[in-house]
Amino acid sequence: MLRKWPPIIAKDRICTKPYTLRTATKEEKDIEFKVDDMIWIPTHAIHRCPENYPNPEKFDPERFSDENKGNIKPYTYLPFGVGSRNCIGSRFALLEVKVLLFKILLNFELIPTAKTIIPLKVAKGGLNHTAEGGFWFGLKRIQA
Ligand code: HEM
Repeated sequence: MLRKWPPIIAKDRICTKPYTLRTATKEEKDIEFKVDDMIWIPTHAIHRCPENYPNPEKFDPERFSDENKGNIKPYTYLPFGVGSRNCIGSRFALLEVKVLLFKILLNFELIPTAKTIIPLKVAKGGLNHTAEGGFWFGLKRIQA
């Protein structure tokens, strides 16, 4: 989920030292960074790049299984950022969502409502990934 739909679509950093980013091919130009340049790291694009994730539009949680996770290239999975300023709440966030889903699915069936848009469309604009028209679903209590 966080690979295909990272809630925060990009990260920013401010350059503290001059740095030249060398390119891999002659067709591209090296990029010179100066002190105080602001850099945007496009998480969404990195997560959807077929060189990083073959068949990137496919929702395939098995990419992250114990067997396959060694194939994920370093710094290509960034939902919580990376480095010394990465998300301090990442473990709490993952635990919270698991508990929430467990409790909901234990007691309810999720059903579409008149407002549910299927297939889900990503809202345009803004820095956060969200659904166009909002996330709407109904809860039908499961009889014990
Ligand atoms: C799915 C939920 C969440 C996502 C996707 C998320 C994502 C992120 C990202 C991308 C960053 C920037 C990292 C970087 O620049 O490298 C960040 C920073 C941060 N997040 Fe989260 N976050 C989530 C939940 C939370 C929660 C639950 C908390 C607190 C309880 C939290 C607290 C923070 C803090 C304090 C920072 C700033 C860290 C710093 O600058 O040193 N986040 N988060």
